Amino acid sequence: MKTLTVKTPGGAYDILFERGLLARAGECLNLNRKTLVVTDDGVPERYAKTLAAQCEYAVTETVPAGEESKSLPVYAHLLETMLEHGFTRKDCVVAVGGGVVGDLAGFTAASYMRGVDFYNIPTTVLSQVDSSIGGKTAVNFCGVKNIVGAFYQPKRVLIDFDLLSTLPPRQIANGLAEALKMSVTCDPDLFRLFEETERPAEHMEKIVFRSLEIKKSVVEQDEKEAGLRKILNFGHTLGHGLESEENLHGLYHGECVALGMLPMCGEALRPRVAAALTKLGLPTRLRFDKEKALSAVAHDKKSEDGGISVVLVHAPGQWRMEKKTLPELRAMLELILEKEPEETERKA
Ligand SMILES: NC(=O)c1ccc[n+]([C@@H]2O[C@H](COP(=O)([O-])OP(=O)(O)OC[C@H]3O[C@@H](n4cnc5c(N)ncnc54)[C@H](O)[C@@H]3O)[C@@H](O)[C@H]2O)c1
Repeated sequence: MKTLTVKTPGGAYDILFERGLLARAGECLNLNRKTLVVTDDGVPERYAKTLAAQCEYAVTETVPAGEESKSLPVYAHLLETMLEHGFTRKDCVVAVGGGVVGDLAGFTAASYMRGVDFYNIPTTVLSQVDSSIGGKTAVNFCGVKNIVGAFYQPKRVLIDFDLLSTLPPRQIANGLAEALKMSVTCDPDLFRLFEETERPAEHMEKIVFRSLEIKKSVVEQDEKEAGLRKILNFGHTLGHGLESEENLHGLYHGECVALGMLPMCGEALRPRVAAALTKLGLPTRLRFDKEKALSAVAHDKKSEDGGISVVLVHAPGQWRMEKKTLPELRAMLELILEKEPEETERKA
């Protein structure tokens, strides 16, 4: 079995990689205690059932699928369930789902009795390549994403590639956007795989492993995002603007990050990243309200003076942080704005 160990001041933990691992979770995790299994109703039911069957005392909570479940009421409901079942500090929480379930269950584990053990079994590409490690847990509040949360590292993460077989293609592409992000900022070899292979998704095991190696290295150096970890936010500044409630494009997180990366690439790199995104079936242009997106960006990052820090990349693996003013960001948004058909014709 392949293993990576993440060592942060918040704790060291293993990521275990193997096909079929879910069915053997009881051998890798301490489930001989009360276990809150958190999943959502879009995740195949059998995944949580397979896990629960290996627990001494399992309580399964299935929340509605979607970002709306990262909320205080759903979080409070999970805490209530733990209280009702008499969970103590020695018990544990396991996430069986994507980034939404992981962020929600992680925050529940972080705060119940000031912290109980948390295990993560990610079931989406996005959560396998990115969100399942690093310890960021959160819920959304008052329309602001991830505003209430904690840094809380899992005790162990199980990566079972078989779980990805039930994902629709759009969800696969959505997760690969985050892996492509890691490659653009940190790993020219991984970027080459995205550029040169016809169907990158066929190399999923390699992509997931390498992405987690990159993320592990970054969070080990900067667990709480004082500096280096900001590179993981590449594409997220404008991405969050597109993702915000006011815009409601129905885009997934990774799709917004894909769009948000493009203006942050140097001119020579941008068409290469756009080609890689297109090959994955990800958007490179969008029709959106520029001013609404910009105000969401400004709101998201309002605490910074003298501009908003963004990560710029000129060649794969070569990045730098720079502050951009709102007029500069407005001009950057133009690069991904799909023009109205008449407007395009008039200009032609
Ligand atoms: N904590 C972090 O470091 C971090 C990093 C990146 C993103 N995130 C968060 O992750 C979230 C997005 O995560 P996501 O893209 O995994 O979305 P998600 O958790 O909403 O999952 C996407 C959809 O896929 C379904 N699904 C999950 N596993 C499945 C499977 N194996 N087969 C079929 N369907 C399945 C879910 O029910 C859901 O409908 C966002 O809230 C984002 O903020 C967190």
